[in-house]
Amino acid sequence: MTKDTSVLLDEKRLFKPNYKIVEEAHVKNWEAEIEKGKDLEKYWSEKAEQFEWFEKWDKVLDESKKPFYKWFTNGKINLAYNAVDRWISTDKRNQVAILYTNERGDEKKLTYYELYREVNKMANALKNLGIKKGDTVSMYLPMCPELLISMLACTKIGAVHSVVYSGLSVGAFVERMNDADAKVLITADGTFRRGKIIDLKKIVDESILQCPTIETVVVVRHTGNPINVSELSGREILYDRLVEGESGECPVEEMDSEDPLFILYTSGSTGKPKGVLHTTAGYMVGVATTLKNVFDIHNGDLWWCTADIGWITGHSYLIYGPLLLGTTTLVYEGAPDYPDPGAWWKIVEKYGVTKLYTAPTAIRHLMRYGSKYPNMYNLSSLKILGSVGEPINPEAWMWFYKNIGKEKIPIMDTWWQTETGMHMISPIPVSPLKPGTATLPLPGIDADVVDEKGNSVPLGKGGYLVIKKPWPAMFRTLYNDEERFINVYWKEIPGGVYRAGDLARKDEDGYIWIQGRSDDVLNIAGHRVGSAEVESAFVSHPAVVESAVIGKSDPIKGEVIKAFLILKEGYKLNTTLIEDLKKHIRYELGPVAVIGDIEQLDALPKTRSGKIMRRILRAQEMGEDLGDTSTLEE
Ligand code: WTA
Repeated sequence: MTKDTSVLLDEKRLFKPNYKIVEEAHVKNWEAEIEKGKDLEKYWSEKAEQFEWFEKWDKVLDESKKPFYKWFTNGKINLAYNAVDRWISTDKRNQVAILYTNERGDEKKLTYYELYREVNKMANALKNLGIKKGDTVSMYLPMCPELLISMLACTKIGAVHSVVYSGLSVGAFVERMNDADAKVLITADGTFRRGKIIDLKKIVDESILQCPTIETVVVVRHTGNPINVSELSGREILYDRLVEGESGECPVEEMDSEDPLFILYTSGSTGKPKGVLHTTAGYMVGVATTLKNVFDIHNGDLWWCTADIGWITGHSYLIYGPLLLGTTTLVYEGAPDYPDPGAWWKIVEKYGVTKLYTAPTAIRHLMRYGSKYPNMYNLSSLKILGSVGEPINPEAWMWFYKNIGKEKIPIMDTWWQTETGMHMISPIPVSPLKPGTATLPLPGIDADVVDEKGNSVPLGKGGYLVIKKPWPAMFRTLYNDEERFINVYWKEIPGGVYRAGDLARKDEDGYIWIQGRSDDVLNIAGHRVGSAEVESAFVSHPAVVESAVIGKSDPIKGEVIKAFLILKEGYKLNTTLIEDLKKHIRYELGPVAVIGDIEQLDALPKTRSGKIMRRILRAQEMGEDLGDTSTLEE
């Protein structure tokens, strides 16, 4: 949220791990592990050995068609098999794999064996709907066991899943659904949010006519409200009816290492959202390895990642990572402060959560209530904390460290992206920590801060964050948009490096301090929102001719939207119109797009070639120098 971290770089507090953490840790010597990681192929191939392969790979890394890297070429493997089937012939068979709970206190537990059967039933049902290897299945579901089951069912039969976050609304939904060419959509009658039920099915009903590729809509009965079956349309079917009578056994599809695994949409700075495509083996290796190292996963852990499954954090570290390691993953449906701001701490105490992975925005939100709520519960089961999504402010870090970790346990500030698939820059439990930095690149990762020409910048100086060598969980392309894949990520900085789109600095210890995005992507409560998407949504309102949006800093959300609008003749920006515009944006994009402020302008600052100069608006808003205005139109 703070763009200028020169102040943060002065952060001198250093927190070292205590002996208990070191004693327990899988990796006790950080530097030695980083050293090992320098032999990329050896390092990652050793990590790949943890899985059951149907056929081993013949090459660890194929760099012949940069930037289209390939990992573990010609290997044959299946993710669902390794995440579920593999455990049922071990003593994990009857261990809880998924522990679901929600804000109402409902609870559902699935052991690995039960999960195995449920996944197989759904896999068989999807096949009966005509889904074959390579087809896309979309999901628009709340945090519920059926979402995890459906994703694993796709993976088991080689279908590609595309999960759309249930907080997105009609416009965003339609765009993602059509880009992915989904044949089947799985949704639910609703989701619980702060004592209310949000009707997801209604949003689907309003969108579906604009989604011609969808042949079948599967509806999960989630809320307990009765559904009038006769009101379902011809293409709709209830989830429970669909899987009823299906066999609990299903043959596994042997996937090539590089077969597509999933598409996940994320916002870019221009145009439509980007369909980030991940493939099978490298993703598995990267995600399982980083989760094990960063959060030091052991038998008996209860892992809780609070992210929604609709984002990459949910994919990699709520479902796939923990199940690949055979741990128990907690799935919570609800807000952090409902029915009261002790809701999360109550769950930690009740179930004995050992590792908690959350986001700075949630920490800042809960921090407002002070230490009262955390002090009401016994949090002594916790061993490691984690943060992801945006830079964590040192005050929020300290609050988390003191009130939740009781100054005894470390915080893993993990930097990574939808595109990277896995943690990239992060401490591990034995690392010395400084509040506000994700510390060093993980073993096997070569990250740097460079200038436009690709040269490393001196310590303390700002620059672009890049990754210099390929890593196994890297995305392979943007779905339907290879050109954009190359142009956005691999071209702008010379040297064939991956441009992350973030600004960063390194301090005297080489620790990397992320300063926020270098492009026009906003980070609202840890969610990426593209300015172009918001601008298009504004322009689709009858009163708006043109719009430009920038991020405005916000104490809880990190950033919110500040919009500058040019209105049609006859319209005035009064409170009624502001309310109407806010509703419109919510309808188009969903509650993720939080509007902080709307301002009416007579003209937008543009370059002579007609590009909106958001930079000028930003500088003006912050009362800063406008910088170079030579390209500004008269
Ligand atoms: C930001 C989320 C600072 C960053 C996993 C990145 C962070 C974008 C951190 C990716 C962190 C994520 N410190 N910034 N620990 N983690 N970011 O694709 O700007 O939703 O580029 O992936 O979030 O967001 P995405």
